Amino acid sequence: MNFKNSGLNIDEGFRRRVPSKGQIIVIVFLTAAGLSIFYGFSTLSFHYSSTNKFCSSQCHEMVEPYQQYLKSSHYDSSRGVVADCADCHLPPGEVNKWYAKVRQGVKDTIMHLLLKSEDMNHQRWKMLAVKNIRSESCERCHKNLFPSELHRGGLLAHKAFKRGEVKSCLNCHVNLVHVTRES
Ligand code: HEC
Ligand code: HEC
Ligand code: HEC
Repeated sequence: MNFKNSGLNIDEGFRRRVPSKGQIIVIVFLTAAGLSIFYGFSTLSFHYSSTNKFCSSQCHEMVEPYQQYLKSSHYDSSRGVVADCADCHLPPGEVNKWYAKVRQGVKDTIMHLLLKSEDMNHQRWKMLAVKNIRSESCERCHKNLFPSELHRGGLLAHKAFKRGEVKSCLNCHVNLVHVTRES
């Protein structure tokens, strides 16, 4: 078919579809605005859903871990220094944090929807948590593994950790937070 002779002017049509400078500016502006809003919302929801309040109040699975946490040395500490859920349960570094959060968030949501109360297995979840929690998260606060007050046993153990002979803080510091304590 010969377009030239069909009364349809293809060139003309194309030219009309090429956006003008003004339109480009508007498109760029809207895209930037859209992205900022998206970023704003996702950052907000990221932060909100990382707060202790969210982590502990949205799901019944978290009631017991939360109660235990309130009595642990990482909340009820002698100097009042508090570690939030996300300080331990998410790795350091923005990218890693996002990745872990999305991955764990999706898993937790699916679990939450499928889970019946009788399926709650804190013991199993502890083992999963131990696998997921990274020593780097602990080291963000525990920067000095050789404080002068540390006993010889701790000194030797931490040296072994530094040499890479023991992989994770949690190999030794088990039942750190979520154990039921007498009040
Ligand atoms: C936000 C900072 C922070 C993070 C993250 C953190 N801790 Fe702590 N940790 C503290 C503080 C502060 C204390 C001291 C509490 C006190 O006053 O007794 C403490 C105490 C401890 C103790 C001694 C008390 C006890 O309960 O045995 C151990 C062991 C410990 N942390 C290990 C860890 C490990 C392992 C991780 C990672 C899973 C971790 N911490 C993550 C701040 C942190
Ligand atoms: C090989 C085992 C082992 C590893 C791995 C290990 N620790 Fe320890 N840690 C110990 C021992 C043993 C002590 C001494 C406990 C004591 O004196 O009651 C100790 C003591 C501590 C204390 C002081 C506890 C207190 O009550 O004063 C903190 C805090 C601590 N470790 C944090 C960590 C962190 C954070 C990591 C990972 C970066 C880690 N440890 C890795 C064995 C280990
Ligand atoms: C100091 C680090 C730390 C903090 C803070 C912390 N956790 Fe944990 N969490 C752990 C560790 C370590 C485990 C593995 C079990 C253990 O050693 O206690 C765990 C295990 C868990 C588990 C699986 C075990 C179970 O009982 O179901 C859940 C759920 C959990 N944490 C939720 C939370 C919530 C919610 C918060 C905040 C209210 C929180 N954690 C704060 C370190 C932490």
